[in-house]
Amino acid sequence: MTRSTSHTPEPHGPAHHHGHGDHPGHGGGHGHGHAHTAQDDALLVAVLDLDAEIFAPYLTAVTSGIAELARDRVSHVVDLGAGTGTGTFALLERFPDARVTAVDSSPAMLALLTERARAEGLGDRVRTLETDAGTGLAGITDADLVWASASLHHVDDPAAALAGVRAALRPGGIVAVAEMDGMPRFLPEDAVVGRPGLEARCREALGAVDAEQVPHMGADWGTLLAEAGLTVEQEHTEPLELRAPLPAQAGTYAHLVLGRIRGALEGRADPADLDALSILLDGGPGDVRHREDLVVRSTRQLWVARRPADAP
Ligand SMILES: C[S@@+](CC[C@H](N)C(=O)[O-])C[C@H]1O[C@@H](n2cnc3c(N)ncnc32)[C@H](O)[C@@H]1O
Repeated sequence: MTRSTSHTPEPHGPAHHHGHGDHPGHGGGHGHGHAHTAQDDALLVAVLDLDAEIFAPYLTAVTSGIAELARDRVSHVVDLGAGTGTGTFALLERFPDARVTAVDSSPAMLALLTERARAEGLGDRVRTLETDAGTGLAGITDADLVWASASLHHVDDPAAALAGVRAALRPGGIVAVAEMDGMPRFLPEDAVVGRPGLEARCREALGAVDAEQVPHMGADWGTLLAEAGLTVEQEHTEPLELRAPLPAQAGTYAHLVLGRIRGALEGRADPADLDALSILLDGGPGDVRHREDLVVRSTRQLWVARRPADAP
């Protein structure tokens, strides 16, 4: 089912309200092997917002590169799998004349995003479309830019989703696909005594969960974009590394991410590794929120492709 709404500004709306506790179709990130709960949703919102804050300079650089490639006027942007609105708000700022259609399968995410847009006085520039982006983008044919960050790997059929993206773009319009190599990393090799290599092992175990639950994570989006009839103009891999002095929220971010990893690996990893993860999460002296030795690492990939101007 597809539902679209448009909103007018409401300057007195609440600012960042976390945790609309409905049940989005996909929680995003990593499936936990159990039904989604309001708590999962609230955690996802918190992780997405912290990710936006901590990697803000990267996003600014990316949207600046996209503006150069877009060349001419950008008046309609589609944010595919918009989540809490990180891309929506960055692109509204980058393209001050544009409006954004925020697309998501989760009504809770769209409600949160709408509330934020209103609170920022941007409600008249944001429309929402509740749909499974894997089945197309319902009637949109005039997009100058489609932005899909950490979302396309969730769809059941990437080829169908990209056919929908192509149909939504005007000839000459561009699509940017941003993905990351799984969860970010934070820990030194010897973070927990007696469990060297803990984080690498946990990521490997998580990879097995992902392979089952989000099989298109790590897909070759360049090839898929080309197969969808789009011309890939840029392909870029950026290993991001943040060292001390870290942004203020880095410890909280590490705590949330490692907590989600622990949840996903319950019953799937060596119990000694799960215990070691608990030491990093339990509020004691080994807790990641108190450590001085965190380094935040995350590899980000970006593909930018264009719908040929002269193709049907
Ligand atoms: C990891 S979040 C990324 C959010 C945002 N793009 C960002 O970069 O912060 C993935 C988002 O995609 C949405 N999503 C998952 N599957 C979807 C689908 N089939 N169609 C539309 N949205 C989907 C989820 O609800 C979630 O909001």
